[in-house]
Formats: sequence, structure tokens, C-alpha cells
Amino acid sequence: MKPRIALVVLSLVLSLLIGLTLRRGAGGAVTTGPARPLIGLSMDTLEVERWQHDRDLFVARAKELGADVLVVSANSDDTRQVRDCEALINNKISALVIIPHDGAAMAKGVSLAHEAHIPVLAYDRLILNCDLDLYLTFDNVHVGELQAGYLVDKLKGKKARIVRLLGSKTDNNAFLFKQGQDNILNPAIARGDIEIVHEDWCDGWRPENAKKVLNAAITKSGRNIDAVLCSADILAGGAIQVLLEEGLAGKVLVTGQDADLSSCQRIVEGTQSMTIYKPIKHLANTAAELAVKLARREVIVAKEELPNGRINVPAIFLSVQVVDKGTMESTVIADGFHSHESIYGK
Ligand code: GAL
Repeated sequence: MKPRIALVVLSLVLSLLIGLTLRRGAGGAVTTGPARPLIGLSMDTLEVERWQHDRDLFVARAKELGADVLVVSANSDDTRQVRDCEALINNKISALVIIPHDGAAMAKGVSLAHEAHIPVLAYDRLILNCDLDLYLTFDNVHVGELQAGYLVDKLKGKKARIVRLLGSKTDNNAFLFKQGQDNILNPAIARGDIEIVHEDWCDGWRPENAKKVLNAAITKSGRNIDAVLCSADILAGGAIQVLLEEGLAGKVLVTGQDADLSSCQRIVEGTQSMTIYKPIKHLANTAAELAVKLARREVIVAKEELPNGRINVPAIFLSVQVVDKGTMESTVIADGFHSHESIYGK
């Protein structure tokens, strides 16, 4: 990722594309868009807990900034998500924010928006092979490094046997988490410290697929495993159900990501070892601020870029934190993401 100077060019290109005359905003900034813009938010799903937080925070921040938001969720259906984008475009939105179910399929949503001269921000998940305007996410490779690093550290001194539950192949993030995990695991495997007894992808990030993969691993390994490296909490939930049935819960290390409430509860109970806290509030607030700027055709500065198969997309990466029993208070609770009571009970 090479540093990138600014998105000034993007903004100018947009101004030209959209053909509006430049005018001075209240703060003296050069703007061309509507004063109270309407923003479209097209979501993959609202079934996973974290995405409900994302939606609520995004809408609240956009409102504070004087914008309205239309939210639609596609229930993990690509055809429906493209139709959702069309509907938002027809509702005269000034900027489109997409959390794609399938990063390749949603290139269509981007091209439809561009035909209507609407800029697009990809939220947390990259959209591939298209002229995406902006990408906002966490450092996803680092997420994978932290997950694997946690296990390598805790399993030091024994020849450890690990099962890997990878994410959904339709989500580019799943590959980035794997890449980060590989960065840490490969040297440990080469040293003979770690053996991967089984690994597989979990379609659609579904817990039932996590269960299937772990059941296959348990059969294959004769229940002889030390850790389950889950790429996200939603998979850890499925894996821990299997471990409970097998009498292995609490004896096998389990990773996760998202600091879902149920995962935080499992961490303090001892059936899950860690999760990654991604300050969703920061992501959602920043996304809302950027979406409003895109809608008002203001200048945006993005210091990074990420190739998506077609272009180097201007990108912004936010940082993440490891959460385990020891850091629960100082991370998710201190941040107000979950209350002490909701995690520990009364
Ligand atoms: C990923 C996201 C993770 C997790 C997962 C399943 O794209 O980065 O935080 O939520 O989807 O929803």
C-alpha cells in the first residue's frame, strides 16, 4: 500500500462528472452537492450482530451532520443487493455506501451508481474490479496476524494442533484475515511448532458451516486439537457449540473477531479465548462523515490505496485491539461498546 497524497483529483473528477457548479459552503469549503443530502446505505445483512451496530451508528452520525439515510439490507442475496442499489439510486441519493455480500458481484452496484453520477464508498468490505471511489475499513491483515499471534503465543512450548475456520469466499476480507494468519503461522509451521490438522472456508460466514468444518476436523484428528482459529465471532459461536457437545469447551483455545456480546460473555466464562475489537463507532462515524463529504462533493484525503483488480482504490484503514479476559474492561467496556453488566451479568 503506497501512501497517497489526496483524493482531490477524485473530487474534481466527480465535480466534472456531476456537472454541478462549484459553490462556497458555510465554512468556506468548496462544495457542489446538496446542503441536506440523502445517502443510501446498502447492507449485506443485519443478521450478524455487528452490522446492527454499524447501521445505528452510521445513521446517527449522518443525521448529526445534517444528512438523511435510506438503509436497505439484502439478506445475503446478491441479486437483491443489486436491486437495492437501483432502488436507492432511483430515490435520488447523493452518495451510496455499500457493505457488499459478494465483493465481485457488487461491482454492478458501483457501475449503476456511476451511471447516475453518484459516488460510492465501500464500507468495511472491498468491491472488486470496478472504479470504486473510496474504501474505508480496518487493517484486516493485522486482524489475522493478531488472531494467529495470540494462539502461537499461548501455545508456546508445545507442538500444537490447530483447526482453521476461514470466512466466506465471497468476502475479500476473509482472504485478508487468512493472509495475516499465514504471516504468523507459516514460520511457526516451518519451525515445527504448529500443525494445521484441518482448515476450510465457511460459506456466507454461517455458524452452521463452521460446525460442519469443525466436526470434520474432529473426526479427522481423533479429537486431538489444541486450538480453533476462527476468523470471526459468528464462526466461533458455531465452533463452541460443537466443542460443548464434545466436552472440549474451555479446553481448546478459540479465537474470534468483532467483540459480539455473546463472544464477550463466552470469553469471561472461559469457552472463547479472545476476540478482536474493531471500534465500529469510529468506522461508522468516519464513514458517515466521508459519505456526507462525497454527497456534498467536498475534498477527501485518503493516505492509502488498495488494488481491487481494476484500480488502486483510495483507502483509509482504522486500527484494532485484542480482547481477552484480561483486557475486557480496558477495551470494549471502557469504550462503551458493551456494558459491564451485559457481559458479566449483575
Ligand atoms: C467481515 C467483517 C468481520 C465480520 C464478518 C462476518 O467482512 O470484516 O468483521 O463481521 O464479515 O460478518
